[in-house]
Amino acid sequence: MGKLKIEGGRPLRGEIAVSGAKNAALPILCASLLSADALALSNVPDLHDVETALRLLGTLGVGIRRTEGGVTLQASGVTSVEAPYDLVKTMRASILVLGPLVARFGEARVSLPGGCAIGQRPVDQHIKGLQAMGASISIEHGYVVAKAPRLKGTRIVTDMVTVTGTENLMMAAVLADGETVIENAAREPEVVDLARALVAMGARIDGAGTDRIVVHGVAQLHGAEYAVMPDRIEAGTFLCAVAATGGELTLTRVMPDSMDATLDKLREAGAQIETGADFIRLSMFRRPKAVNMRTAPYPGFATDMQAQIMAMNAVAEGTGVITETIFENRFMHVLEMQRLGADITAEGNTAVVRGVERLSGAAVMATDLRASAGLVIAGLVAEGETLVDRIYHLDRGYERMERKLASVGARIERVGGTPAATASES
Ligand code: EPU
Repeated sequence: MGKLKIEGGRPLRGEIAVSGAKNAALPILCASLLSADALALSNVPDLHDVETALRLLGTLGVGIRRTEGGVTLQASGVTSVEAPYDLVKTMRASILVLGPLVARFGEARVSLPGGCAIGQRPVDQHIKGLQAMGASISIEHGYVVAKAPRLKGTRIVTDMVTVTGTENLMMAAVLADGETVIENAAREPEVVDLARALVAMGARIDGAGTDRIVVHGVAQLHGAEYAVMPDRIEAGTFLCAVAATGGELTLTRVMPDSMDATLDKLREAGAQIETGADFIRLSMFRRPKAVNMRTAPYPGFATDMQAQIMAMNAVAEGTGVITETIFENRFMHVLEMQRLGADITAEGNTAVVRGVERLSGAAVMATDLRASAGLVIAGLVAEGETLVDRIYHLDRGYERMERKLASVGARIERVGGTPAATASES
């Protein structure tokens, strides 16, 4: 089983080019189902989750042609409207084919994702929204079965802010009859990126990036070329790593405007940060100061950055209180960080992290994607050798992380194979 071997205690110095955003690429790949014409995507990250999404689209009959740094998809010969359990169980984001399939083909059968490592994560809001647009939905043999001759525009108020829920409903609405208003919409930059891709395909969407998205349905979409936005979570992960180890790192091909909450926290921790249109330079020449942080929907602090900030706090000066408000079980890295000598007490959705002067390397186990990233950061600061096991979690969402880190001075290498993912947290 694949592991990362890390010799900690070295500052990071150099430049890393950030990859395309996983959580923007996944919905945009699914948007290809909305048109019979070709969708040519660039800046698509080379990740396990992207492979799973392509496998799913291939199963539905979408034509897939790899290009340099991208992929061209053409859904002119779709042969199936069923997303099978085997694929959905390895990646929850597979639910993103539901909206496009019902919108364009009038029916979809998508397996319910089932349990998840970081929280319950039901998809009731996706279903409620589609029902409001006139779809008849039943659960049959573990599958969501949705039918609608043509979806109808309506006003939808989601019970909570949901990223993929907003994306699914926005994709369903672009081909609906009339105007759909999504209230309490997610404002994440990835939602905006999807909206831009849809607009490039001929959709009419206002308000993406606000909590009220208005979609004016059109009869059909056309082909387009689109470059996926940079990954703000990958970028934030590298920045946390340097804040924890010390050193100086320049990130290129980033979108600093999408990262305010992370950059503010890192400045509070004592990092010097300079940003330009598409680069971020972070210098840290002191021990970080512990920060308090509460995860929240965008523009609040991303839950996907919580474990990484916790790793930085673990070696910081002072005590930081971290509150996780999005997922009910996203502290599984706490016990593993304790194995490295971190002083963390977690109760309910709050973790109190008392910074220690040094961590000491040990064998630890990754439990989900972002937990793995937090453990890698902790390993980069820990004295001696850290072995991070089950890094298939990491491969789902980070493109060659160990190579990128090694290129800026980390002693990190992959040992053993990389078996397919068995959990589904994306
Ligand atoms: N929720 C419901 N019902 C729904 C939908 C959501 O109760 O129908 C709840 C969830 O259980 C959760 C909260 O609403 O408590 C927010 O979940 P959301 O739907 O926003 O999460 P998601 O769309 O399933 C995406 C990302 C996650 C990221 C979250 C939060 C993708 C593919 N996944 O998940 O990314 O953590 O938003 O920002 O975009 C990751 O990349 O590691 C990852 C897990």
